[in-house]
Amino acid sequence: MRLLLLSVALLTTNAFAADCLTKKFDTKLVADACADGGQKAAREAMKKFQRAARERDADLDCKSCHQSLSPHYRLKDDALERFRTLGGE
Ligand code: HEC
Repeated sequence: MRLLLLSVALLTTNAFAADCLTKKFDTKLVADACADGGQKAAREAMKKFQRAARERDADLDCKSCHQSLSPHYRLKDDALERFRTLGGE
C-alpha cells in the first residue's frame, strides 16, 4: 500500500513537472520542443543547440543564459539576444 501511494505521488509530480513553465515563447526551437515533449524535450533541444553553438562560443554553458536550471530555467537578461546571435530561432 505504501509503495502504491509512493508511485501515485511520483507519477503525479512527474506529470506536472513534464510541462514547460514558459507559456509565451520567444523562440520556435523551445516552443516546438515544449509542445512535443514538455520540459524534457526542451532540455534536449537546448543541449543540441548548445553543442552547435559552441563552434562560435566555446565557453557556452546552460548557465551562460540561465540564472538557474531545473525546474525553473530562469533567463538572464541577455539570454534571448545571445540565443539569436548564436543562430537560434
Ligand atoms: C544562448 C542562450 C541559451 C543557452 C546556452 C541555453 N539556453 Fe535554455 N533557453 C534559452 C532561452 C532564450 C529560452 C526561452 C525560449 C523561449 O521563450 O522560447 C530557454 C528555455 C529553456 C527551457 C524551457 C524552460 C521552461 O520550462 O519553459 C529549458 C528546459 C532550457 N532552456 C534548458 C537549457 C539547458 C539544459 C541548457 C544547457 C544545455 C540551456 N537551456 C542553454 C537560452 C539558452
